[in-house]
Order: sequence, then C-alpha cells, then structure tokens
Amino acid sequence: MNTTMLEVEDLTVKIGDKTVLEDINLTVKEGELTVIMGPNGSGKTSLALTIMGHPAYKIVKGKIILNGEDITNKSTEERALKGLFLVFQNPVEIPGITLYSLITAAYNKRQGKTELTKTMPELQEKIKIEAKLIGLKQELLEREINIGFSGGEKKRSEVLQAKILRPKYIIMDEPDSGLDIDGVRIVADIIKEFIETKRSVILITHYPRVLQYIDPHQVIILYKGRIVAKGGKELVEKIDKQGYQWLENKSN
Ligand SMILES: Nc1ncnc2c1ncn2[C@@H]1O[C@H](COP(=O)(O)OP(=O)(O)OP(=O)(O)O)[C@@H](O)[C@H]1O
Ligand SMILES: [Mg+2]
Repeated sequence: MNTTMLEVEDLTVKIGDKTVLEDINLTVKEGELTVIMGPNGSGKTSLALTIMGHPAYKIVKGKIILNGEDITNKSTEERALKGLFLVFQNPVEIPGITLYSLITAAYNKRQGKTELTKTMPELQEKIKIEAKLIGLKQELLEREINIGFSGGEKKRSEVLQAKILRPKYIIMDEPDSGLDIDGVRIVADIIKEFIETKRSVILITHYPRVLQYIDPHQVIILYKGRIVAKGGKELVEKIDKQGYQWLENKSN
C-alpha cells in the first residue's frame, strides 16, 4: 500500500472561541497539484498554518496524517523535518539573519547536521544560481531577511528557500500575489518541476493565471471555513467568471 500522502481528516479548528475550519477532509497524493481557492477570510491560510502546526490554531476535532503517521500533535519543526514546507502569504522579517544563513542552517538541519558548517561552497554556489533563475538579486542574499524587501522580492525569497530545500510537500499560500508576470511564470515552472519530481504541491491562490501553465489534479473551494466544492480545472474557470456567491447556500 502506498502511504506517501498527506491526509486531513474531519478537521475542525478554532482560534480562541472562533471556529475557522469545520469538517475539512483532504487527501494530497504524491506528485499531485491541489489548488485551494475561496474568498478572503474563508480559512485558506488557517488551513495552511494548521497543517504546519501553528500553535494558535487549536484542533478540536480530526487528524492530520503524513505518510501514514499521525502528526496532529507534532511540533512545526518535526513536521518540517518530515517534509512539510510552507511558502507564507505574508513572509515575516527576521532581523539579524541573512537569507543565505537561514537557507544554509535549514539545509544542514535536513541533512542531519546539527552544527552550521561554515564553508559550504557548493551550497553557496547553488543558492546563487537558483537566486538568479528566480530573479532574486544577489545582494538580497546578504541582507537581513525580508527587511526592506519589496513584496515581490519577499515572495521570491520564499520560493528560493523551497527550491533549495526541496520539501516533499509544499504549501504555497498565494505565492503569485504581488508578483510581476515573469514572477508568475517562474512560480508556475517551479510547481511543474516539483510535480514532475513526485513532490506534492498545495497551491492557495486567487488567480487562475498560474494554471495557464499547469493543470491541477484537484481544486477545492473553501467558503466560511468549509469545503463547499471539489473538482478540476473547470471549477477555477467557473470561479473566475462567476465569483463565489453561487456557493453561499452550500455553506449552510
Ligand atoms: N489569529 C487570529 N485571530 C482571530 N481571528 C483570526 C486569526 N487568524 C485568522 N482569523 C480569522 O479566521 C478567518 C480565516 O482567515 P484566513 O487568514 O484563514 O483567511 P484566508 O482564506 O486565508 O483569506 P485571504 O484570501 O484574505 O488570505 C478570518 O475571519 C480571520 O479574521
Ligand atoms: Mg490567506
């Protein structure tokens, strides 16, 4: 039996007293692209952060299973080491740490090295090459993470981390928002390459434009914290034409 997948089972999540997700069921298989859409405030980022184990999101019902293992109560770090990675919708600023040193430390951790190796010329070279391909200026690698970065530069720096660390499961929370047209193409190419190398991608987006370049295996619509529709690419086209109002009666 192939258990290489991420499964979300009957998940209900609260922040404080507010229920942000209700009865979510989702299976993400190896080598597949799952697209999650939904209006602002419908729970997309909450789902991404819950899967990553953010402590503010309390799971009151259900489980998260990764490769057959229940990870519902595992820490974010353990989840990351097991292959989960999140490209943040709103990347945080990290004073005092450069992008280069962050990627090096995370890379080493994944290789099972506890100490930060000082000189890693090969990795350094790889980071430089990938940064160039992603359209991220070299000087940003040496600057404090996200401090003074433009919106698009922040997104590109997140995508660079994903490209170097090559997680098995990657959740991208609106990687295309704020990106110029070349940036969107780059993100689409990366998603394609991840799928072709048997990784799984969960793409949260408001725009069908990335999907001009790649077909999703499944499309899920969140509305008021619930999954109200599941389908294929045609669902993205329908949302693009009609918006979300037609889903209102399905959310009750
Ligand atoms: N820390 C928090 N405290 C209180 N409410 C929160 C918190 N985080 C999220 N929420 C609420 O949960 C709901 C879902 O938010 P979420 O960020 O998941 O939406 P989203 O679907 O990602 O929206 P967008 O498309 O705007 O990114 C919103 O009503 C939001 O205000
Ligand atoms: Mg969001």
